[in-house]
Amino acid sequence: MLSPEKNERLTRVGPGTAMGELLRRYWWPIATHDMVGRMPVKRRLLGEDLVLFRDAGGQLGLLAERCPHRRASLALGCTEQTGLRCGYHGWLFDAAGRCLEQPGEPADSTFKDRIRATAYRVQELGGLVFAYLGPDTPQQPAPLLPRYDLFVMADCWRDIAHAELPCNFLQIMENSVDPYHVEWLHGRYGSFLKELAGEPPLPVVTKKHIKVAFEVFEHGILKRRVLDGQTEDDEDWKTGHPLVFPHMLRVGAAGLATFQIRVPIDDTHTWHVWYQTYAPGGPVPQQPEIPVYTVPLHDEHGSWLRDYVDGQDIVAWVTQGDIADRSQEHLGRSDLGVIALRRLFAEQMDRVADGQDPICTYRDPAANVQIDLPMEKEKFGSAREFRQIWLTESSIRYSPIRDQVLELFGDTLPGPTPASRGATAALLRSSRPR
Ligand code: FES
Ligand SMILES: [Fe+2]
Repeated sequence: MLSPEKNERLTRVGPGTAMGELLRRYWWPIATHDMVGRMPVKRRLLGEDLVLFRDAGGQLGLLAERCPHRRASLALGCTEQTGLRCGYHGWLFDAAGRCLEQPGEPADSTFKDRIRATAYRVQELGGLVFAYLGPDTPQQPAPLLPRYDLFVMADCWRDIAHAELPCNFLQIMENSVDPYHVEWLHGRYGSFLKELAGEPPLPVVTKKHIKVAFEVFEHGILKRRVLDGQTEDDEDWKTGHPLVFPHMLRVGAAGLATFQIRVPIDDTHTWHVWYQTYAPGGPVPQQPEIPVYTVPLHDEHGSWLRDYVDGQDIVAWVTQGDIADRSQEHLGRSDLGVIALRRLFAEQMDRVADGQDPICTYRDPAANVQIDLPMEKEKFGSAREFRQIWLTESSIRYSPIRDQVLELFGDTLPGPTPASRGATAALLRSSRPR
């Protein structure tokens, strides 16, 4: 249980808040590669309204949405050879925020030299566009964009799924240090839905947790578990997998690996990105580009989709409230990971307030060629069964390349039939959590 004040401190992400200042020390995905082009697009990150564009010269730019002249939206602008021209009166801004032209002002005016649009750094990596909204001066330079392994590694295919969720980012991150939910939310509840729809229960996720542990380490929190029938010699305990601070879970097995990236749009909305990689071992044919797709949240009747693992996670996060009221919760021993994560956030907010870099900020290019993260290859005691679940029961089920991925791995998966899917959907309509 937290006081309302502590809950506010952990969940408010806007400028000037303690969490907002911490999160501004990191690079955040702000768009997928297909979203950015000559037409400027509105994006919102950490409570700030922004406009992202690529000018005709190829330069990416990210500016505060409101034009410094008379506050019109720069999303109503034209990209030019250099920069973005406001659609209202034609003031032209480059990607650094300099005002290059003010067509309505006298030719000899120096007024433009005293005007700046708020501009932020943007950089592309692995099919995502990343933005940095924090301190960026010679005294306090921006850190490097971390080159985490899944963004840069060779010999794999990738796809990127995404969805906008109506809740605060922290309750989603807390789920990543909450191993017990797997056997209950996905194991029991997920199998309950399948049972009523006449489908077999999900394999492996029903296994009971005998022991869990959380270790704060250089990349965040390493999560370990021993499941029923396992020992500490199994990879789920020996290797585990990480919550990458402050915003990602790395999860997968058997050549599948996913970053679940939780991007705070504002206090009550999170852009969830599933960054998937498929590496069967050895060279794979080159992808022409990384496919991007959205994950549906509701069925045609407006009910939350709950007939698969990610849908069950989403509905659990969202029904905790737009910002979970932690003054009303009751934590037990099974919540030690959640407590560890809140403590880590609190410590890192204090570091930033003291003028120090928080963990997971990179400034040495030699240490940032490829940041390899630990993750078990053999998961839940059965890598192949885990892969089967991941390909049928995760957001990958919506991937436009799912069938090719099956071929890549040489897998044939039974999966639910269309008829039983219909039965599940009908069942879910009968109870609609809000
Ligand atoms: S409001 Fe943008 S140029 Fe006038
Ligand atoms: Fe889950």
